[in-house]
Amino acid sequence: MATWSAPGKVFLFGEHAVVYGKPGIAMAIKPRVFVTVRNTRRAQRAKSPYIDGCFEAMGVVGSVYINSQIPSSSGLGSSAAVTVATLSAINDEFALHKNREDIADMAFEIEKTVQKGRASPTDTTVSTYGGIILISGGSRRRLPPQNMHLVVGDSLVSHNTSKMVEQVSELKKNHPAIVDPVLDAIEGVSMSAIHHLSNPKELGNYMNMNHALLEALGVGHPQLSKLVLAARSAGAFGAKITGAGGGGCMVALCPKPLKHRVAGAIEACEARAIVTGIDTEGARKEKNV
Ligand code: PMV
Repeated sequence: MATWSAPGKVFLFGEHAVVYGKPGIAMAIKPRVFVTVRNTRRAQRAKSPYIDGCFEAMGVVGSVYINSQIPSSSGLGSSAAVTVATLSAINDEFALHKNREDIADMAFEIEKTVQKGRASPTDTTVSTYGGIILISGGSRRRLPPQNMHLVVGDSLVSHNTSKMVEQVSELKKNHPAIVDPVLDAIEGVSMSAIHHLSNPKELGNYMNMNHALLEALGVGHPQLSKLVLAARSAGAFGAKITGAGGGGCMVALCPKPLKHRVAGAIEACEARAIVTGIDTEGARKEKNV
């Protein structure tokens, strides 16, 4: 029996712009998915196509038990974390000797298959390696990890990533003279933010700018605006939509002593708050239970 876990993620900067080859910055965060795999020599019918995909890709059969702290379908990368943790646990239990790079590549292929070609490698990369990742065109690079006090606000409004991506693409097609400069401005924010990752006050300003630009792309939602404003009023350095928008989550960067106040302000808006911070480990072996 082998138990592995893998973290979720947030986009700090550049969501949607990354679809057009612009840079994006994503960070692994603390809620984790825990997966136990047992070599039972007979397959247990998994309820998830991600789990089935993992066993198929590894060419083995076994049973699996999942315990997730990450809300699903919220843009926090829960499917990537499940996939990465399951592949890692299978690799360990069956002594298949795959390295981290193999796991990240396989996890991306599985996400791509299940999501019918629409996955980006961001979630699987961040979940496998942990830390802060700069996505730029086809390349991904780890940035120096920084301790950040974050509160994620889950609006509990369901959203659909491919629908939001499609909506931005329509807007860009209909108004290129407006949308292209907005995407360029998001790129400007991300490129500036890279140099201020250790300065939360400055980083918060960049998050606020990124939020306004995401609103300009039409991916806002009244409930997300409410949460962003509540977090800023409660003392956050900055707050923005994280991920595809139209629902899903926002993220606030907070002074350490204020993070619980910010979380309270978010929960007062009938949303779910997660007080969190960076995860620097990525996929990790847990003690066998
Ligand atoms: O829904 P999420 O958090 O996986 O974010 C999607 C981010 C987009 O840039 C809108 C799309 C993508 O694949 O990068």
